[in-house]
Amino acid sequence: MRVLVIGSGAREHALLLALRRDPSVTSLMCAPGNAGTAEIAEQHDVDAASSDDVVALVRELAPDLVVIGPEVPLVLGVADAVRKIGVPCFGPSAAAAQIEGSKAFAKDVMAAAGVRTAHAEIVDTPANLDAALDRFGPTWVVKDDRLAGGKGVVVSSDRAIARDHAAELLEKGHPVLLESFLDGPEVSLFCLVDGEDVVALLPAQDHKRVGDNDSGPNTGGMGAYTPLPWLPDGMVTQIVDEVVKPVAREMVARGCPFSGLLYAGLAIGANGPAVVEFNCRFGDPETQVVLEMLETPLAGLLYATATGALGDAGPLTWKDGSAVTVVVAAENYPGTPRTGDVITGAEIDGVLHAGTTRRSDGALVSAGGRVLSIIGHGADLASARADAYRKVDQIHLAGSHYRTDIGRAAAEGQISIPS
Ligand code: GLY
Repeated sequence: MRVLVIGSGAREHALLLALRRDPSVTSLMCAPGNAGTAEIAEQHDVDAASSDDVVALVRELAPDLVVIGPEVPLVLGVADAVRKIGVPCFGPSAAAAQIEGSKAFAKDVMAAAGVRTAHAEIVDTPANLDAALDRFGPTWVVKDDRLAGGKGVVVSSDRAIARDHAAELLEKGHPVLLESFLDGPEVSLFCLVDGEDVVALLPAQDHKRVGDNDSGPNTGGMGAYTPLPWLPDGMVTQIVDEVVKPVAREMVARGCPFSGLLYAGLAIGANGPAVVEFNCRFGDPETQVVLEMLETPLAGLLYATATGALGDAGPLTWKDGSAVTVVVAAENYPGTPRTGDVITGAEIDGVLHAGTTRRSDGALVSAGGRVLSIIGHGADLASARADAYRKVDQIHLAGSHYRTDIGRAAAEGQISIPS
């Protein structure tokens, strides 16, 4: 099978590495990619958000399967355009991608499907902001109602901080979503979904704040681990039965069946799982650890999802042990990152590239906020952490930073579900 992956992050690098392990894959292509993906796939230029550009590339390369990584092309209908020319594509239609692209749509689907989620209000004018803030708290959750790569969220028990963020978004013309705070540890559960067929992958946990002990602003994700030793047995089945299947059925009933990867972000509270958000694609950095653990050949699974045959997929098989990823970020991330710095020490196994490029002299240089995603694997979470941080120590990038506590609370048994 010849597979073309669209995207340029560590998630796409992880997808390519997993696809390369599938014996049915004969050729791997990536566009636009980064310096890491260029080492394992034929690299092409593309504007991933342009259906015309992607379709032209697909016509030129004639892959058997196109896999679209990021949300922006999916929300803009790039998967529809690829399917329209008869090429199987892993990724939802624009209509189904609204589950991520429009928070109002996602809330409406969840209400109709009877799925527990935070109470939410949209504020679209500064005049309504203070009264709306008064209806929330003592912890305020303020989200950009547009796609913001995870960075549009502020969670704070300081009303002034929440207000400043909301006012800043409104000033930019972005509607603001205020949500009630959901208590409990968070889980990212990725499910392959093809109409009403659902296959859950291993649950993972992201670390969204930039600093240790969940300090500082939100980011696109600073690290992740899987599996979750604190998650009760049966919780994945409960999430699939109470959340993912009802939503998949509701999407079918609305005439916009979901086909691709449905990412449920959940808080596990005293009353069970509640949805924080849905995304319409593999998450980053959780994908890096989930795919590190996957033994079932990935291309077959993605092809089955893309062609309406997921119901025939057997049970998935997984490696033993745990996986951890630590994101190495550029100076000033999640603000405007410093770029163009030389990276050394990255030529080791388990280094996935995100914001990297090759300079004309061949040097590997930073080209984005999240620069590398370093993977560790071990018999348990503590040894996977040790493996990941041993590799992180070998990397040098001036001004870079990373969290030192990825997976630590879970490894030390400090995560519990409120009762
Ligand atoms: N892990 C956060 C995201 O992919 O949106």
